[in-house]
Amino acid sequence: MAKKRGTAYVCNECGSDYSKWQGQCSDCGAWNSLSELRIPGGSGRTSAGKGGYAGARSEVRLLKDIDLAKMPRIGSGMAELDRVLGGGLVPGSAVLLGGNPGAGKSTLLLQILCHLAQHLPALYITGEESLEQVAMRAQRLGLPMDKLQLFSETDVEAMVATAEQLKPGVLVIDSIQVCHLADVQSAPGSVSQVRECAALLTRFAKQTGTILVLVGHVTKDGTLAGPKVLEHMIDCSLMLEAGGDNRFRTLRGQKNRFGAVNELGIFAMGEQGLKEVKNPSAIFLSRTAEVNSGSLVMVVWEGTRPLLVELQALVDDCQGGHPRRVAVGADQNRLAMLLAVLHRHGGLQVGDQDVFINVVGGVKVFETGADLATLLAIVSSFRDRPLPRDMVVFGEVGLSGEIRPVPGGQERLKEAAKHGFRRAIVPRANMPKKAPAGMEVIGVEKLTAALAAIENQYT
Ligand code: TYD
Ligand code: MG
Repeated sequence: MAKKRGTAYVCNECGSDYSKWQGQCSDCGAWNSLSELRIPGGSGRTSAGKGGYAGARSEVRLLKDIDLAKMPRIGSGMAELDRVLGGGLVPGSAVLLGGNPGAGKSTLLLQILCHLAQHLPALYITGEESLEQVAMRAQRLGLPMDKLQLFSETDVEAMVATAEQLKPGVLVIDSIQVCHLADVQSAPGSVSQVRECAALLTRFAKQTGTILVLVGHVTKDGTLAGPKVLEHMIDCSLMLEAGGDNRFRTLRGQKNRFGAVNELGIFAMGEQGLKEVKNPSAIFLSRTAEVNSGSLVMVVWEGTRPLLVELQALVDDCQGGHPRRVAVGADQNRLAMLLAVLHRHGGLQVGDQDVFINVVGGVKVFETGADLATLLAIVSSFRDRPLPRDMVVFGEVGLSGEIRPVPGGQERLKEAAKHGFRRAIVPRANMPKKAPAGMEVIGVEKLTAALAAIENQYT
């Protein structure tokens, strides 16, 4: 039987293509997730079609001849956002801003656009809120409202036509999930719609040098809807997340063609919208006057700067069944590995104990520099003896019980000293030539040495 031409089936969960319909996606295993996607023919106006932009010609040139001055960075007016972006917005680039509903994506973009619009034509296309709602929010936040152009639309062809006319320097689409193209059969938000809409918009951005920001919602399991199909189209993917305390928002880069990923920007949501948090260490360190056993401050490296974060461990007798190992905000497997190292090289048996660790403030730490702090917090809880309030710890622990150096040792110590910490246990190889003023730094090479060092420090 001849296959119907121009039709494919895409999985709405993972974006895999199939030529025939089937009940289950063989890639991600989701049931009944395939929907029909019409592949536009020669006359179509979607991704493979003319759309008006495919005509722009590019030429072959030497790498050294390419004019980099044409790629200026445009500051968004928020230093935290610029840092996550790797220095600012790049003309002709597409940025995806993801997050849960209520994370503050629309608020963040509205704040930035109102300020950017003062010196760069800006167009905000909203498909979710009415123009009045956006205007009311802008007024309440006291934003400059005179320059930003606002448009309520969900049809992508109409968006592109308007953008062609207005020639904005920065174009925001809120959100990609409500966008639709008449040529594509499936419902807005489905993988095929998202893919075709994003393709048309990013092509428009590339060829006109417009900064494009797409807002994307996150599905139940925490991924962006249609993740795979969007990933390769966009230059930069950012995720806005609410921390444990729902006042704070963290902005994290997941992919960035113009800078490093894993930079962390921190904002606070208040009456006046989102505000940058200039000194993030301070918010994660609101410790009580009395320090309990199992609590310890570690210095982790976030992108390009150190961050002081409190870590808590709880070791408790297991009440039957398998002992539990639970890591909140940290890596579960790494915890299991560290416990094995602790047993083998530290001589501490916790096989019959439940072990919980929690990174305070909803921060997620997946850096090996947290290893030593994790182990020492566990020991402190196991012995039920509090560690001093003014002590910080960082360092990686190897499988043979060695304490390995981590990047940025000097800066981590400086940050700790700045916040009034007076003692530090660090890898020997991270020992500074001169300790920060007023700080006692203990360098350790082996886990046994670290355990011995805290024996004298218990309060
Ligand atoms: P919003 O930007 O609409 O979220 P998103 O676009 O990501 O879905 O943010 C809405 C939330 O932010 C809402 O729960 C209320 C809160 N908020 C404040 O607390 N203060 C403010 O000034 C604003 C504008 C919003
Ligand atoms: Mg919104």
